[in-house]
Amino acid sequence: MVKKRVAVLISGRGSNMAALIEAAKERSYPAEIALVVSNRPDAAGLARAEAHAIPTAVVDHRPYGKDRAAFERALQAVLDEYRVELVCLGGFMRLLTRDFVLHWEGRMLNIHPALLPSFPGLDPHGQALKAGVKISGATVHFVVAQADAGPIIAQAAVPVRDDDTPATLAARVLNVEHRLYPLALRLLAEGRVKLIGGHCLIEGTHPAEGALIVPAAHDTDDRDRSE
Ligand code: GAR
Repeated sequence: MVKKRVAVLISGRGSNMAALIEAAKERSYPAEIALVVSNRPDAAGLARAEAHAIPTAVVDHRPYGKDRAAFERALQAVLDEYRVELVCLGGFMRLLTRDFVLHWEGRMLNIHPALLPSFPGLDPHGQALKAGVKISGATVHFVVAQADAGPIIAQAAVPVRDDDTPATLAARVLNVEHRLYPLALRLLAEGRVKLIGGHCLIEGTHPAEGALIVPAAHDTDDRDRSE
């Protein structure tokens, strides 16, 4: 099997990057993490990648100021150097130009910690708590010019608790992100994601079963019993 060469772009701690690296160690996984790129020299994820012997590069955005195209030319040069075929954004906190996004159309994924199209942008967990939703989750989608939008490949849901803070909800969502992103990358690398009419159809997957209901029904049963 020829594995797809993947770059993970990070800006911070890189826990999703680490989940992808772990998944890609499996012999049958159809992608290899060929490169980790950070736009921040101090990103903690860089050391994590190095600990797994993954090549890393820093393309610092600061010298380019507002010239996003110049920053992206430098980024593209590194991706070319490592013959990267697919790109995964993992907490990569830079907006990308339309040209860069078009160049990678259908080959660049992002993960966002909310059930898109709800709560795009900054502070998605704060947004979810403010809205009072009972279920939140994570979304892996193709990157388009608009941030946190684009055809959805996979989603995972988690319950929101009454006593959640943005931090506790983030931790619960992050847990499923680490399962969801490797799954979505696998599907893409296997060529099973078909874009039809702006929607992703996934070939050869079993229909998902079950329902997450919040609050759980047995909470009510417990109260009935104590009455
Ligand atoms: C993750 O929760 C990811 O979903 C989020 O940033 C975090 C990065 O964590 N991404 C976004 O909010 C994109 N809009 P990580 O560096 O530990 O993977």
